[in-house]
Amino acid sequence: MSRLVVVSNRVGIPDGKARAGGLEVAIRPAFKQRGGLWFGWSGKIADDEPGPAEHTVRDNVTYVTVDLKKDDYEEFYNGFANRVLWPILHYRLDLAEFTRRDLGGYLRVNQFFADNLEKILRPDDIVWVHDYHLMPLAKALRDRGHKNRIGFFIHIPFPPAEIATALPNHEQLIPALSYYNLVGFQTETDATNFARYLTTERGLRRLDADSFAFDESDVRVGVFPVGVETEPFQRLARRAVNSSFVREVMDSLSGRAMIIGVDRLDYSKGIPERMDAFERLLTNFPQWRSKVTYLQITPRSRADIQEYADIARQVGAKVGNINGAYGEASWTPVRYINKAHSRTALAGLYRSARAGLVTPLRDGMNLVAKEYIAAQDPEDPGVLILSRFAGAARECTAALLVNPYDSEGVAIAIDRALAMPLAERRQRHADNYKALLANDLGQWAERFLATLERPHRDAIQAPRPRRAAG
Ligand code: F6P
Repeated sequence: MSRLVVVSNRVGIPDGKARAGGLEVAIRPAFKQRGGLWFGWSGKIADDEPGPAEHTVRDNVTYVTVDLKKDDYEEFYNGFANRVLWPILHYRLDLAEFTRRDLGGYLRVNQFFADNLEKILRPDDIVWVHDYHLMPLAKALRDRGHKNRIGFFIHIPFPPAEIATALPNHEQLIPALSYYNLVGFQTETDATNFARYLTTERGLRRLDADSFAFDESDVRVGVFPVGVETEPFQRLARRAVNSSFVREVMDSLSGRAMIIGVDRLDYSKGIPERMDAFERLLTNFPQWRSKVTYLQITPRSRADIQEYADIARQVGAKVGNINGAYGEASWTPVRYINKAHSRTALAGLYRSARAGLVTPLRDGMNLVAKEYIAAQDPEDPGVLILSRFAGAARECTAALLVNPYDSEGVAIAIDRALAMPLAERRQRHADNYKALLANDLGQWAERFLATLERPHRDAIQAPRPRRAAG
């Protein structure tokens, strides 16, 4: 079996620290099966020239990490990746701030990754690149002569061509994905959007249901929705409810029902809109006042970026207003916490919560939604309230699906969840749980890698004559 080389911006070296990252959770099982190598950024910023890559071996996996220079971090990570690609791919053209300087930094770091990978890649390695930070990496490797099979999976949404074309230099960046042998998406919608971009914007010819002819090779497009490790997570949650931490939290609620939300502090997660919905609940359904506590766990992220500082202020103000207007000396309606919690703590809290509020404005998948379902006690499960704009809504159709922009509608869904009869809760949970099992994380990586390994007509042949772009 070929060696697996995973490349992503963040590298999850096991260190026992709490993390909220979906990517890291998703990749881990791939290594359990095969071992291999994981390459990416160390998370450190070098004062001047970064030193040589650092190698760490844990279990069957070699972690190879590089530092970034200050300018690279600014232009690549804060700049192009998170101030341009992130908002545009989440349909937020209004928040994108494009500069040519940041684009230059983005391309430079991709070249830097390729230079470092060149030192460790073997000809028969299978390479799996993750997420929007590394869209041009396959091209950078092909330019260096690497003929490995290289796959790309994007964990976040891919918007319709009308939005994608608002990305300045999209003609350079998006078609660069065609240098991968396989490009994977979370949902059919994302894959269809990309396929339509290739055909209508770039004039690529469709070869069959999932392949397109590209300059020097063919590119295959696939849908691989990320799952969770359903049964292990269920077992973890069962144990975790008895931990002293979870008991302490539940005791402190004095018998009140708990609603839980867990998200990185990011504008795509719809947290201010969710606060509005909770406020609506307290206004329109006063019977729940003092009967329910909403716990929102929200680790800060990308704090150097203005939009993230803005959302932090906005959420803080809304929480303060709700607690000021509705709270009692003996009851705080919203508990808002910026600290990251361990997976075990979260699993226990999910299982203890009567409702899970997962209402992103747009999300690739959202593994919190799936973990909330996995964590429930099937005999007495809580209810998932899920945005129809999260990838997870395609599979978790027995959740209460909501439009996160409609705070009144979300308030009605919260009321319905809190009052839902046991039989309906059990049925909805059983249906959702079945959907999780049908697409367990254990099969995800193998499905992607098997598709990537399966030969098709491409095999990086001699360049064919260039077709005119449409
Ligand atoms: O959703 C995309 C993603 O890469 C997640 O997998 C991860 O949790 C998050 O973004 C982390 O963002 P950052 O690396 O910027 O902290």
